[in-house]
Amino acid sequence: MFDLIVLGGGPAGYLAAERAGEAGLTTALIEKNKIGGVCLNEGCIPSKTLLNSAKIYEHAKHGQVYGVTAEQVTIDAAAVVKRKNKVVTKLVSGIRATLKARKVTIYSGHGTVVDRKDGVIRVSVNDEILEGRQLLIATGSEAIVPPIPGVREGLDAGRVLTNREILDLEAIPESLVIIGGGVIGLEMAAYYGTCGSQVTVVEMLDHIAGNADREISTVLQKAFEKQGIVFHLNSRVTRVDNESVHFENSEGSHTVKADKVLLSVGRKPVTQDIGLENINVHLERGHIVTDRQGLTNVPNVFAAGDVNGIWMLAHAAYREAEVAVNTMLGRKDIMRYQAMPSVIYTQPEMAFVGETEETCQEKGIHYKKVVLPMNFSGRYMAENEGGTGLIKLIVDQDKDCVIGCHLLGGYASEIILTAGVIIEAEMKISDVKELIFPHPTVSEIIREAIFHI
Ligand code: FAD
Ligand code: NAI
Repeated sequence: MFDLIVLGGGPAGYLAAERAGEAGLTTALIEKNKIGGVCLNEGCIPSKTLLNSAKIYEHAKHGQVYGVTAEQVTIDAAAVVKRKNKVVTKLVSGIRATLKARKVTIYSGHGTVVDRKDGVIRVSVNDEILEGRQLLIATGSEAIVPPIPGVREGLDAGRVLTNREILDLEAIPESLVIIGGGVIGLEMAAYYGTCGSQVTVVEMLDHIAGNADREISTVLQKAFEKQGIVFHLNSRVTRVDNESVHFENSEGSHTVKADKVLLSVGRKPVTQDIGLENINVHLERGHIVTDRQGLTNVPNVFAAGDVNGIWMLAHAAYREAEVAVNTMLGRKDIMRYQAMPSVIYTQPEMAFVGETEETCQEKGIHYKKVVLPMNFSGRYMAENEGGTGLIKLIVDQDKDCVIGCHLLGGYASEIILTAGVIIEAEMKISDVKELIFPHPTVSEIIREAIFHI
């Protein structure tokens, strides 16, 4: 009998197993595919490895403005993918080693919850039945495949791709149509656009980047357009065929050539075929409902990560896993979501945390905003010729606290945590003014913005 059975070996699952093992719980981890889940194998790390190569390529090609000239600069997609695979293999083997050190038993196979009787939860994997006192469901999410005519056939033929296949292309397609201008769509537009594909993004909403602040996402879109990426907003894809994508908008029907098509219209939690109905786990709109300790409606059954449909982000999964394990161990812990950072690793990077102007208006928050060009930072000026980066700080005027920070520009992904800490700690503006930022750094833009309130 295990103290804990973890179903799914992605960020939520492997971190929970590591923490549980460390605390002395006998733990089983069931993974049907690869340890590391989507994030390590076909998500966060592969995409960031590709984007880093694109950044280096871009710098080498356009170094003249910084006084550096390189000739015959090329990017070798096969070599980029090979390096990506090396990075992934190394990270995955590191996780395996940690799990082993924490005495976690790994089962390779598809796990299915069988039943729960007298406090014992049974899960089948391959031909075995495992018994556990507690269960963590961490089965993650998968790409949504919308019922657009031609998409299924395209997927079968390898012309329509999801995040899984697009990260393994060893040749840069001449033309790439991206259906969905959200996070995956934009990151892949950044990579393939830089590598020379003619990229077209077809998005059904009137803006890109989902819930990101509109003022900032509009600047990002302009930066993309300057790089030659074409956007069709308010547009609905009607059909995909062997060489094109067809779509409609208020101006009529259109066709755009597509050697490859990326499907990035969102992801859905994996809750089917895992036996949740055998123990009556409560679902809402396809995701598992939990409280803020990660507990489902069934005693001793927890869920964490993408499967709960709250934030489909690896860092959310990590923290939810920790909270769930701490709760199992009787340690007081709770999930707080108000300072959850989001990053889009495009060039320029976009990062944000907390409220947007749109959510402030919805919630009736009495807010004030400060918008400054990143050029107020000397480091940004030194490193970004012609950069159009921005910071937007949103302050709750009643509480006298920062409640939102939105950044566009190099290092945004690294700086956003500072804003997150300020928001999480609910620091008063006068206290934030007393923080000392290292000089010269782009993070000083937060200090500049604070003094402009
Ligand atoms: P997953 O990583 O989906 O892992 C779930 C695991 O469960 C999988 O390995 C699956 O095989 C396994 N599983 C499912 N069912 C069973 C079963 N019945 N039996 C056994 N095993 C099973 N997030 C970020 O924070 N930053 C990023 O930069 C970022 N980039 C991304 C880029 C892309 C292209 C994609 C697709 C996602 C990205 N994400 C990013 C999101 C991130 O990958 C997810 O939020 C994260 O992987 C969620 O972790 P998880 O453990 O909940 O689920
Ligand atoms: P997404 O939700 O970010 O974006 C999907 C986009 O597709 C939306 O803008 C939506 O309006 C649009 N759309 C939906 N149906 C459409 C249709 N039929 N035609 C045209 N457009 C359509 O989802 P995405 O990009 O698939 O990513 C999934 C999740 O993975 C993200 O929400 C995020 O949580 C995670 N992720 C995180 C990353 C990061 O942290 N840097 C990177 C990549 C993914």
